[in-house]
Amino acid sequence: MIRLAKRVRDLSSSATLEMTARARQLAAQGKPIVNFAAGELDFDTPDFIKKAAIAALDQGFTKYTPAAGIAELKEAISEKFRRENGLSYAPHQIVVSCGAKHSLFNLIQVLCDAGDEVLFPSPYWVSYPEMVRLAQAIPVTIPTSPQSQYKITTDQLRQKITSKTRLLLLNSPSNPTGTVYSEEELQAIANVISEKDLFCISDEIYEKILYEGAKHYSIASFGKDINCRTATVNGVSKSFSMTGWRIGYFGAPEWVVKAVTNYQSHSTSNPVSMSQKGALAAIKADEKEVLNLLAPLQERRSLMLSELGTIKNIQFFPPKGAFYVFCDVSKTAMNSVTFATRLLEETGVVTVPGEAFGDRYGIRLSFAVSMSDIHEGMKRLKKFVEGL
Ligand SMILES: Cc1ncc(COP(=O)(O)O)c(C=O)c1O
Repeated sequence: MIRLAKRVRDLSSSATLEMTARARQLAAQGKPIVNFAAGELDFDTPDFIKKAAIAALDQGFTKYTPAAGIAELKEAISEKFRRENGLSYAPHQIVVSCGAKHSLFNLIQVLCDAGDEVLFPSPYWVSYPEMVRLAQAIPVTIPTSPQSQYKITTDQLRQKITSKTRLLLLNSPSNPTGTVYSEEELQAIANVISEKDLFCISDEIYEKILYEGAKHYSIASFGKDINCRTATVNGVSKSFSMTGWRIGYFGAPEWVVKAVTNYQSHSTSNPVSMSQKGALAAIKADEKEVLNLLAPLQERRSLMLSELGTIKNIQFFPPKGAFYVFCDVSKTAMNSVTFATRLLEETGVVTVPGEAFGDRYGIRLSFAVSMSDIHEGMKRLKKFVEGL
């Protein structure tokens, strides 16, 4: 019989893509749309990065590279980890993949057997549960709330650990909540990981996007033991506005790196050759050449938060990192899907329903959009909620 594999039939579709597709239809019918669903910055990739990729093309750098990335890029990443994160990964402890998403996918594939349990806090990034299921492992969420600043406690973590638990997925700064774990909180989590003999995948893709004095710490920098049981994932998508270039990477113990290199060599082979040259320019860049993300994002964040503050019946968590505000719409007596669908159909404002992140009453608003869109979108949101 001709049919799809079971593990693929059960995959959920992306809520973000569904909302965006509907918004596109409405826009084509002439409806003015304000899109708060974007998962990327609206800034262009800086010129010096583009030039490096163009030079690579001109020089014929268009062939296969080593599967885990070119040596110069791995050296630059090794240096970046040392300089910015206090991590000492040698170049042979680094893999460059086709985006941080690809790094995460490959890591979960090589670390999990069927039936293994993978823990992560909820609300979570949409792809975590599906990646875990594709490895035939079992996603186990640890619920968080605005009261706990969307952070897990070590007591909660201990309660969820069973003999089948293999992995903890951590994401700080977090998408969708914008929470950022402190040094002490991460240290306490590291102690449990070590004590319970687990492995940690630390997704640090939003590390450079921080507000109100928040600081980013890499959990793998807290000593030898946690370093030996962590993969630190990062990439250039968010920090340098390079989402389309598809370059992510991770540092990890050698046994993990070897397995992922092997896995990657049989699936995608190397990440795109000229994108690697662009990423090399980005990672080696002088601080002052780097895209100044923070000033415009701070301004947009402030505007969105102050406007949200005037809307009754919507509660929200002021994010300390990333570029999303996670709101609770339970007081409107609608769940997130109904709320987001009605908001789009009635006002043309696109959001992502929290259902996609494991929260039935959450709505994610991205402020990586223009100030005028924030003004307009917030005006429509307020009118919608007040008219309910
Ligand atoms: C939490 C999180 N991790 C990883 C990624 C993947 O980033 P990349 O574009 O490098 O694949 C994203 C992108 O939205 C993200 O939000």
